[in-house]
Order: sequence, then C-alpha cells, then structure tokens
Amino acid sequence: MTPVNYIESPLLSRTPLAWAESVLADPLALLVDHAFLEKKAANNAMDMMTRWPGDWTPGWVETMTAVARDEAAHLAQVTRLLVKRGGRLGRVHKNPYANDLRRLVRKGEIGDTVDRLLVSAIIELRSAERFSVLAAAANDGELAALYGRLFASEWGHYQVFLRLARKVAPADDVDARWRYMLEEEARILAAQPPGPRIHSGYSPV
Ligand SMILES: [Fe+2]
Ligand SMILES: [Fe+2]
Repeated sequence: MTPVNYIESPLLSRTPLAWAESVLADPLALLVDHAFLEKKAANNAMDMMTRWPGDWTPGWVETMTAVARDEAAHLAQVTRLLVKRGGRLGRVHKNPYANDLRRLVRKGEIGDTVDRLLVSAIIELRSAERFSVLAAAANDGELAALYGRLFASEWGHYQVFLRLARKVAPADDVDARWRYMLEEEARILAAQPPGPRIHSGYSPV
C-alpha cells in the first residue's frame, strides 16, 4: 500500500519512509511497543465508557465498547505475531508521547470530555499514519498485512472520536481546540527520541 493520503490527513507533520525502514530493523521491539499501545487504547476506551457528558449521551457506551473490542483484538493479533517470532511481552511500558498529549486535557466536565476525545482521536490518527508508512516500507508480507489492516481500523477510530467530540460540544469550539491539539502533537512527536517504537521521533531527512 502507499502511505496515507496527506490531503485527507490533518496532521501537521508527516513521517518519512526512512523512519519505517529504521524502526523495522528491530521488528520484535516494535511489536512489543505496539502491543502495549493496543492495551492502552483498550484501557482508554473502557475508561471513557462511563464518562459521557451530561445525563446521558445516546450511542456513547456502544461506541466505547466497540473501540475497546477492536483494540483487544488488535492486542491479540500483535501478541500472536510477537510470540510466533520468538518474542514476548514485558510487564512495564513507557509512552511519553501519549503522556505528553494527555497533559493537554483541561479540567472541568465538558473541556475534559472534549479534550479526552480529541487526544484519543489524534493518537489514533498518528498511529494510522505510522501504520500506513510501515505497511509501505515492510518487505515482510506478514507485517505489511498487519500494518495495512490496522491502518484502516485506527483511521476509523480517529473519525469516530472526532465525530463524537463534535457531537458533545459546539463545532467551532471543538475545531479550534482540534487545531491547537494538532500543533501540539507535531511538537510533541518531534521531541520524542528515535528508536523501535510506534510513536518514536526521527531526524528530519
Ligand atoms: Fe488498535
Ligand atoms: Fe484504535
């Protein structure tokens, strides 16, 4: 597959193929990091499940349940491939990229909810972009197929979270906040150290 169409992607920085070629030099480390991201995404959806704004938001619980189920399935797929190739999970994982993004979440019910949805959307969007670049760069058919499938699924999750944010708050407020998050995301990603991780930084080429 070719990398994601950047005309459709609102991300403010793009990942070069050279990043994927570099991280694919250590596919087991990349799969371990990836498995933990899927676990975190499943946990996030489960946590968000009871955080609907106001008294009740129709469709909220169903949406979070569906995302959590997808992420648990991704975790199982990634772990299966990892173990088949002789790797195993650790117990501890650090994700400074996601932690830095979560620091942008405002306090107060509606700001908190909108920001959590937008941070979720942006992590899904960047993950989808990274998977598309990985799918394009991988010489290994099994890995290329995995990344291609996950690109499509995470891209769908990005749209789900962004749509939900626009449903629970005025569109102008959400869009302004989204633009701010996109700027912060490009800055946070660029500050990440390089290495075999899905959200690692890279030296500009
Ligand atoms: Fe996922
Ligand atoms: Fe996802």
